[in-house]
Amino acid sequence: MKNQGKRLGLAIIGGGRVGLFRGEVAARHPMVEWIGLAEKNPNRAGEVGARIGADFVTQNHVELVERSEVNCAIIATDEHLHVDPIMACIERGIPMLIEKPLATRLDESARVLEAIRKAKLDAVVGYTQRFRRRWLAVKEKCRSGALGDVTLVTSRAFMNRLVAIDNYKRTDDPSTISPMVISGTHALDICMWCLEPKIPVEVYARSIDKVLGPLYKGIDATAGMIMFEDGTLYHLNISWALPISWPAAVYSLEVGIVGTTGVLTIDDTHRDVVLAVSNPQSEGYNPDASRLVDFMGSYPPGDMALGALRGPMAQETESWLNRVSLGLPTAAATVEEAHRNLMLTKALDLSARRKAPVALPLDPDEVKAAA
Ligand SMILES: NC(=O)c1ccc[n+]([C@@H]2O[C@H](COP(=O)([O-])OP(=O)(O)OC[C@H]3O[C@@H](n4cnc5c(N)ncnc54)[C@H](O)[C@@H]3O)[C@@H](O)[C@H]2O)c1
Repeated sequence: MKNQGKRLGLAIIGGGRVGLFRGEVAARHPMVEWIGLAEKNPNRAGEVGARIGADFVTQNHVELVERSEVNCAIIATDEHLHVDPIMACIERGIPMLIEKPLATRLDESARVLEAIRKAKLDAVVGYTQRFRRRWLAVKEKCRSGALGDVTLVTSRAFMNRLVAIDNYKRTDDPSTISPMVISGTHALDICMWCLEPKIPVEVYARSIDKVLGPLYKGIDATAGMIMFEDGTLYHLNISWALPISWPAAVYSLEVGIVGTTGVLTIDDTHRDVVLAVSNPQSEGYNPDASRLVDFMGSYPPGDMALGALRGPMAQETESWLNRVSLGLPTAAATVEEAHRNLMLTKALDLSARRKAPVALPLDPDEVKAAA
């Protein structure tokens, strides 16, 4: 007999951009019977609650998580505010889809990882790019040995400064926010996924802060290297301080993967579909009236078309709902991988600050001491 699946009572904590996208997808899913929303901002809570047809709306995530209907949760709060809602869900034994990064501090990420392991909970992290066909196909070529032994990976991520400004404005501790931790983590996750199961042993990096430093005590760009146990090299850089007029809505990426018997190059810059308009458009990331040219497809969650989100965040959300309801496997990042990603990005930032190599694994106390 076919598996009938578990009917879902979904808690969405954080009703911002991502909470709304995921909530709209969940509202269409046949196994979702009940949706509750916790959103701190009352105006936003009312607006998003109505758009996703929420059965219960509150400003308090504890009140939501305590509802008897809830049997799974999406944590979509700001990057530095994931930990409290995650802990509340762990206490109630609720499986979770947590937005990246797991936390913005390495000690908090380690605490969350430990608590999830101890509770033996199914929790995955929103590394949404894994759900794109191109990265799945690339992963398969690396996994199946088409390139031989992968020896060198290189990634270049370019972003205009809208995401950086938004992040620095929202935090009261800019030292926990960096291009690597907040955004570079997506490219890093994809490349580390392709390099699986190689073990990173050392990082080296340098940063520059001529634009965002004076304005927000922020970092513009970081370039670095990750060295692996077997000598493999991953060379990566990210700038999130390009002018606002740079046409990618968010992410523009180029990746090269070189193996002993093959090579893969991936142009993920999104310059294949270019939109130019005379009047500003209202979609994308923090729409800015001065931006009249866009690389379409460069908004990582996907695009709204014909009344629904189309793209990787829709596929990721649907597959996670299938995972908790029907037990189907997914390509989602585990909490272990998410913690490893944070550890690597923190190590790159620390190396850049020290202007010296950093040995791995990085101890959370070392980051605290350096701060
Ligand atoms: N997977 C992806 O591709 C992807 C894309 C964009 C953003 N993100 C991640 O998603 C997360 C959310 O990003 P966003 O762009 O939606 O941010 P956002 O600022 O639009 O939304 C966050 C919302 O959470 C609310 N909030 C914060 N703490 C809360 C709490 N304890 N209870 C209830 N509400 C609370 C805020 O009021 C805000 O409305 C971040 O971690 C971000 O890095 C992931």
